[in-house]
Amino acid sequence: MNETIKAIFDRRSIRNFKPDRLTDEQIETLIQVALASPSGMDLQPWLFHFITNQDKMNRISEGVLDAFRKAGNQELLDRMAARHPSIFYGAPLLVVISMSQDNLSGVDAGIAIENLAIAAQSMGLGSCIIGMAAAGFNGDEGDELARLIEMPADHAFVISIAIGYPAMSKKAHARNRDKIKIVD
Ligand SMILES: Cc1cc2nc3c(=O)[nH]c(=O)nc-3n(C[C@H](O)[C@H](O)[C@H](O)COP(=O)(O)O)c2cc1C
Repeated sequence: MNETIKAIFDRRSIRNFKPDRLTDEQIETLIQVALASPSGMDLQPWLFHFITNQDKMNRISEGVLDAFRKAGNQELLDRMAARHPSIFYGAPLLVVISMSQDNLSGVDAGIAIENLAIAAQSMGLGSCIIGMAAAGFNGDEGDELARLIEMPADHAFVISIAIGYPAMSKKAHARNRDKIKIVD
């Protein structure tokens, strides 16, 4: 098995990170990985926000949990509380992808976020793609959260990924062969 395929198979959603910070070199590699991502017509419609400030991450996490509280989403709040106080699971790095609301491509963002996940795995790091942060950026506190990460006024949150050293391990998710249709 080659190393790329091994990284794809070994990746897991990590929901508890060690507090160890990443080196500037590791972060620069991940910046280059983000920039190497393909995009439709090479439009590169994204802004990658590389966030290492824990206070800012905690503020975003609180904004998301506030939005769940306001929505009365107790089931989700209970699930998150059982996992970790932060929706970013204590990761030392959070990468948010924002895009102009006029040119919002979830496909481009998804490809870039998986590039980061596989690269992180290959670097001995773990990651968790975090979509639920949308609840914060789209909620009452959204403007404040957007300002916090220097998101342009016409941009919207698309997806994010928490990256760091795993403090847990877990089994691979079920591989459902019935999700494959071989077409002769
Ligand atoms: C678009 C997307 C959004 C996700 N959002 C979250 C999230 O907000 N919080 C979380 O803990 N996991 C999130 N995940 C991780 C999934 O729950 C995870 O990929 C799935 O359970 C399979 O587990 P695995 O990644 O370990 O294979 C997200 C994954 C994707 C692809």
